[in-house]
Amino acid sequence: MLIARTIDELRQHLASAQCPAFVPTMGNLHAGHMALVQQAKPLGDRTVVSIFVNRLQFLPQEDFESYPRTWEADCAKLKEAGCDVLFAPRESDLYPQPQTFTVQADPAIANILEGEFRPGFFSGVSTVVMKLFISVFAGKARGVAVFGKKDYQQLMVIRQMVRQFALPLEVVGGETCRAENNLALSSRNGYLSGPERMEAGQLSMALQALGRAALGAGDALAARLPALEESAIQALRVRGWQPDYLSVRRRSDLQVPQAGDALVVLGAARLGSTRLIDNLEL
Ligand code: PAF
Repeated sequence: MLIARTIDELRQHLASAQCPAFVPTMGNLHAGHMALVQQAKPLGDRTVVSIFVNRLQFLPQEDFESYPRTWEADCAKLKEAGCDVLFAPRESDLYPQPQTFTVQADPAIANILEGEFRPGFFSGVSTVVMKLFISVFAGKARGVAVFGKKDYQQLMVIRQMVRQFALPLEVVGGETCRAENNLALSSRNGYLSGPERMEAGQLSMALQALGRAALGAGDALAARLPALEESAIQALRVRGWQPDYLSVRRRSDLQVPQAGDALVVLGAARLGSTRLIDNLEL
């Protein structure tokens, strides 16, 4: 496995590649990331993974400094998985000057749900992903980028960005990997205590229950949805969670649905000091 620190090194390593298959990550790799790498491998002629903890997508009070950094273990996993090129820029490599030119994501998708509770998050993500795409794919006629569906809204923002900027890329979504209690795998699960980890599967259970209720509402979906969402939020609150939102949305654009729309249920809630997100396509 070749390791590139700078954009120039990365481009040298990829000079003869025609269709890189790229998985961007912030490291602390778990089985969910590794499934994305396996999904990417047959989709291109070089498998590229990036590890970069992107300051731009963290709010000042969030966990940028304490975000888990597990370089040795990550490298071993990627080598074992057959990753061809690991791009691991230092901050000074990717942002040698303050990144004052940024990608502003469409507020219609970026200021709702996660974006309401983490203002600026999707512009931070879009900006770094655009820069990573330019680093990996510049000069290539085509490429593939794989993102986990666990960050459902992020995947949708990136799809829209790629479409609107006409980037010659295919964006592919990877299914969420789960622990035995249905907890979606996430680097932030490492913050949970033992009892919290057991409780954490309840977020997925709450999304399933809300999903069933939404499907059961039939033609009355739009009218009944606010009450259904509120009772799902209450059900988690009484278990000690602090939910930000549990919401049923139209899959195509994450707006409030009408009866007959394809649906997705999305949720974010804090358990102790750990904020977890999850979703479920109905
Ligand atoms: O999903 C993530 O890990 C990050 O948001 C990403 C896409 C690597 C951008 O920093």
